[in-house]
Amino acid sequence: MVLKIISRKRDTCFMFYSGKGGVGKTSVAAATAMWLAAKGRKTLVISTDPAHSLADSFDTRIGGEVRKIDKNLYAVEIDPKLSMKEYKDMLSPELEKISALKGFGLDEAFDMAGTTPGIDEIASFDSFLKYMSSSEYDIIVFDTAPTGHTLRFLSLPDVLDSWIGKLIKIRMRLSGITTAVKKLIGSGADDGRDSALEKLEEVKKRIAQAKETLSNPDRTEYNIVMIPEAMSIYESERSLSFLKRCNIPIGNIIVNQIIPENTRCKFCSSKRALQLRRLVDIRKRFSPCKVLELNLFEEEVQGKKTLRRVAKELYG
Ligand SMILES: Nc1ncnc2c1ncn2[C@@H]1O[C@H](COP(=O)(O)OP(=O)(O)OP(=O)(O)O)[C@@H](O)[C@H]1O
Ligand SMILES: [Mg+2]
Repeated sequence: MVLKIISRKRDTCFMFYSGKGGVGKTSVAAATAMWLAAKGRKTLVISTDPAHSLADSFDTRIGGEVRKIDKNLYAVEIDPKLSMKEYKDMLSPELEKISALKGFGLDEAFDMAGTTPGIDEIASFDSFLKYMSSSEYDIIVFDTAPTGHTLRFLSLPDVLDSWIGKLIKIRMRLSGITTAVKKLIGSGADDGRDSALEKLEEVKKRIAQAKETLSNPDRTEYNIVMIPEAMSIYESERSLSFLKRCNIPIGNIIVNQIIPENTRCKFCSSKRALQLRRLVDIRKRFSPCKVLELNLFEEEVQGKKTLRRVAKELYG
């Protein structure tokens, strides 16, 4: 079984693809999603890369709403900015209206999160949270932004955890103050409920669940895409040790853009010989992970026909 995930039938499974820019993450994610759908698994492929290319890869229209693009196959391109706004709205429907909160730096925290390059990570994480507990799809494939971002997204649970923990404390302190003031001036009945606080607690609980799901090898598989070149190997090694440290289950190592054999072309032959040496090195360094090879095609990987070809090379 090339993909361990295919044999799992119960909860929704999650597949991530990480790797440097341009190594073939989108192509492999799209091809895998198509292959899974063809195997009869209801599959959703989500792009959280701010520079979406999923629609180009499938050569079809995809947008911010989930769209059926084939039998059993659904796709969505998440707008990280929009997602961040929704996140903010959900977390602080009333908090942000309270001017007293400004002193606590809440607005700054949101502004920072809204403008730093990390917003796409929050978008990924948010959609992960959204689909984590729903059983609508059998498998969800994430097409993410190049490595740095994806890896930061994985440590996001801790960041958000402490961030939200702080918000909850502020909220509690504040509700204590407002109750005291209300009592003092004798205005308004306090029904004892605090919906904002409840929501924050709920988000915190979901984050704890997310951390658990992300490190559950029965539900999550993290794949690394690379090319057989020294720089890509070193970078992938760093990713791998980070993933191990975070307790994230590793799926396959996909080595893309291998030059096919061509004895008539001297350039191709010597380039291929070097790549094959790199492949031996990769198998040694990344053992015991499964290494899948993908040839460089004479055409671009675009459209369902080439995606099927990619899947066939990878999974047979
Ligand atoms: N095996 C292959 N043979 C031929 N072309 C390929 C192959 N794999 C990928 N490509 C091409 O390389 C380009 C980059 O691929 P892709 O978009 O999948 O990479 P990516 O890692 O998602 O890039 P980014 O980091 O920009 O998101 C695309 O034009 C794609 O068609
Ligand atoms: Mg991509």
